[in-house]
Amino acid sequence: MQAHESILIVDYGSQYTQLIARRIREQHVFCRIIPPQTLTAELIKQEQPNGVILSGGPNSVYQPNAPLPPREMFDAGAPVLGICYGMQAMAHLLGGTVEKSGKREYGRSPLTIKQSDGLFKDVKPESVSWMSHGDSVTKTPPGFVPTATTSNTGFAAMADSTRRLYALQFHPEVAHTEEGPKILRNFLFDICGCRGEWTMASFIEHTTQRIRETAGKANVVLGLSGGVDSSVAAVLIHKAVGDQLTCVFVDNGLLRANERAQVEKMFSRHFHIKLDVVDAAQRFLKRLAGVTDPEQKRKIIGEEFIRVFEQEAKRIPDVQFLAQGTLYPDVIESTSAWGGPSATIKTHHNVGGLPKQMNLKLIEPLRDLFKDEVREVGALLGLPDDVLWRHPFPGPGLAVRILGEVTEERLQIVREADERVIDEIKKADLYRQLWQVFAVLLPVKTVGVMGDERTYEHVIAVRAVTSQDAMTADWAKLPPEALGRISNRIINEVKGVNRVVYDISSKPPSTIEWE
Ligand code: XMP
Repeated sequence: MQAHESILIVDYGSQYTQLIARRIREQHVFCRIIPPQTLTAELIKQEQPNGVILSGGPNSVYQPNAPLPPREMFDAGAPVLGICYGMQAMAHLLGGTVEKSGKREYGRSPLTIKQSDGLFKDVKPESVSWMSHGDSVTKTPPGFVPTATTSNTGFAAMADSTRRLYALQFHPEVAHTEEGPKILRNFLFDICGCRGEWTMASFIEHTTQRIRETAGKANVVLGLSGGVDSSVAAVLIHKAVGDQLTCVFVDNGLLRANERAQVEKMFSRHFHIKLDVVDAAQRFLKRLAGVTDPEQKRKIIGEEFIRVFEQEAKRIPDVQFLAQGTLYPDVIESTSAWGGPSATIKTHHNVGGLPKQMNLKLIEPLRDLFKDEVREVGALLGLPDDVLWRHPFPGPGLAVRILGEVTEERLQIVREADERVIDEIKKADLYRQLWQVFAVLLPVKTVGVMGDERTYEHVIAVRAVTSQDAMTADWAKLPPEALGRISNRIINEVKGVNRVVYDISSKPPSTIEWE
């Protein structure tokens, strides 16, 4: 039984599944995405979700091995909403007919409502919907009636309101479906009886209580990177267990300007969290000496991090828990029906990379949250915008932004250049619009002239991208004036650089980082 009201979303592989989840969370209702193979009537009886949503997906219900919900699920007592493929699966299983449409519908489609109660209460009789399907329902199952049409199909929606089963051929979750939000609200509040109690304040209350119960009197260790996720996790866990939490911050020498000082100030002095700052710069630099291969650098840094972290964690008495700032999208990525580990594109090590042999149990208080919810939690806990809106920074740090060997001298150049890039971007009020912006030190020197002297010095590349999730990214069209100021400041203020270039590649085919 769920501690709070919830909706289960079964993911049949739609590109919009996460969007369905976002839309529901926006209504302050908790929801969870599960892969099709875990959906059983028993699960529904056990969890007693307020409702179930069957997502869209690329399959055709008649394909061999098409993933289908178990038939008994429809009698398990929870209202069900099938969307697109979810509708076709319902029709197919419950005795209707689904066929390949003569007319495929993609994009905008004018929708006419035939039954204006239940799912369509207060929905305009005529509105625009968003379709994306090749198959269509051509006969409703017994007990169902068609409830909406478009010019291409008489079955744009169907319902069996006695059994509380509803289905839509169009996508209510996408912004182009005008009445989508109203339809989803009708499902959540009228049909499923949700009250919309999932707020970040209530999340903090439940979660701190749960952390307290889980940890008991044992100690918890957390690898703090200074990024949004580990910072919010740290403050939340500290609120729950106070001094039982120790945060370990590894200074690997590959950090940005002032990063260590900022972390010390924030967590130790402001929040009074026990903070163990490990000065490991020399260890990392020694192991990186002479290494130029990017993958080799990553491997060394990942291994060394775990070694250092483990050494420190072992010094904490009675430590039984390792806390991590894992977020919901990471959880979905590793468990979804179509994703699973093999579809995980990033193999990046993170600062939370687990020391497995320590046998610590995990505390992951943010694993149900999306990034914007984490920011909201952080704000409620008193973390400043500076931390909450900080751009992502890779675990291997500046090492993957120095092409070629990592040395103290090169670190200093890229760090000073980066500081100026960020400073100018913030002054121009562009920081929040960008996913990331940073400096990269290239392994070439070029000729320049400063004063009357010929110079032969390093090149800095500036990389700025916009993105939603780092899977794809576009280079940012920064105003030329801002680029000019960045270039001037780097060349004038950073010793050893006489040229600045701007990276105009998108991802794919390039990546965001250069290594
Ligand atoms: P790429 O370069 O693959 O980066 O386009 C995608 C996003 O991931 C970040 N990144 C990393 N993050 N450990 C991390 O924690 C890593 O090893 C790592 N490598 C890249 C990168 O900054 C971007 O946001």
